[in-house]
Amino acid sequence: MNSPSSILVTGGAGFIGSTFILDWLRPGAERSPIVNLDKLTYAGNPETLASIETSPLYTFAHGDICDADLVRSLLARHQPRAIVHFAAESHVDRSIVGPDAFLRTNIDGTFTLLQAARAYFQGLEGDKRKQFRFLHVSTDEVFGSLEANDPAFCETTPYSPKSPYAASKAASDHLVRAWAHTYGLPALITNCSNNYGPHQFPEKLIPLVLTYALRGKSLPIYGDGQQVRDWLYVGDHASAIRAVLDRGRLGETYNIGGNNQRSNLEVVLAICALLDELVPKSAYRPHRQLLTYVQDRPGHDRRYAINARKIERELGWRPAESFETGLRKTVQWYLDNTEWVERVTSGAYRDWEQTNYTDRGGARGSARDQMKADPEVTR
Ligand code: NAD
Ligand code: DAU
Repeated sequence: MNSPSSILVTGGAGFIGSTFILDWLRPGAERSPIVNLDKLTYAGNPETLASIETSPLYTFAHGDICDADLVRSLLARHQPRAIVHFAAESHVDRSIVGPDAFLRTNIDGTFTLLQAARAYFQGLEGDKRKQFRFLHVSTDEVFGSLEANDPAFCETTPYSPKSPYAASKAASDHLVRAWAHTYGLPALITNCSNNYGPHQFPEKLIPLVLTYALRGKSLPIYGDGQQVRDWLYVGDHASAIRAVLDRGRLGETYNIGGNNQRSNLEVVLAICALLDELVPKSAYRPHRQLLTYVQDRPGHDRRYAINARKIERELGWRPAESFETGLRKTVQWYLDNTEWVERVTSGAYRDWEQTNYTDRGGARGSARDQMKADPEVTR
């Protein structure tokens, strides 16, 4: 049995959860033990956590957050002082093709965790009861889509989710708030912007473009490539979650963002420029010639932007990385870890690439044709 001060993390074999765990247990950090409950879907890679696998502070529980008996027994056995809930289906394009798993994990799974946490919390007394926290990790996509000149999302922006993924995360946020309000569950919610960094599954824009460019594959830009996202380095997301867990006010929501708004085209061009510099002998230089405009994502949100002043003001959190430093680290990590990419993308991922990209075509032509006509591409 772990010590009473352990924390239960869900989805800790995924991109952000694994970053959080590795940081929590890094040498010298002197933090409490972690129990990681993860179903190991295609997005979960225990290999990412190999360096702490045998640590006495780490316990892995292979299972589903929808399994109420399993969640109850983990809480009873490990007596955690907090639950940090990352587990989710997280890819918007997959939610469009097959929303079922999103409703099941993101809504039913969160409901199951909340019920188990509520029963567990009711049985706690004294300091253990005062200490307990349920931290729900959510997304800025619950707020919907911004026009070019709209102010950034703040914590009071009304919810307006537009994709099945965003709707399922919005539903889970509402459940957490309801459990806090009705049953007094000591909950906290974080809504974060787009993350990037090492160990991100290569179905998401930045690792997808990076890994495709290294192989000379065309780089699929949905629609006109002018959609804007607010990028945050994943290590900064992990430090923000720690700040909210340590010092966040109960029942509050904290928006987390990098103040790094970039169009998709700008992001892809920045990756291509870094690859030109870091892989000077590449046969595919200049890598931007690989850009290809393809059919847009249905219902594609135009712009996200986060106002993170509340977490800065109340908890003193600020991102450590700029987009330039974070992206350089990320590109270098993928260059140094091509075997990781090979392993996680073998098997079923190939079917997903087929499903998502085969019918999209190169609707607006490749960058080789576009470069002359489009000043954004030639920049
Ligand atoms: P990810 O897809 O990389 O990882 C998800 C993890 O959850 C995987 O390890 C998977 O095996 C596990 N999982 C899925 N279904 C499960 C289930 N039913 N039971 C137990 N485990 C299950 O996701 P991520 O990018 O690391 O995102 C983590 C959380 O952060 C999600 O809740 C997501 O909505 C949120 N978020 C992500 C971003 C981003 O840019 N990636 C931004 C803001 C918020
Ligand atoms: O905003 C936070 C969200 O960011 C998280 O909640 C999600 O879990 C995470 O996946 C991410 O969602 P996005 O849809 O913004 O991320 P994605 O990497 O899929 O796409 C980023 C942008 O790039 C988006 O405008 C779509 C575009 N895109 C994406 C892919 C995969 C392309 O143009 N081509 C592509 O092949």
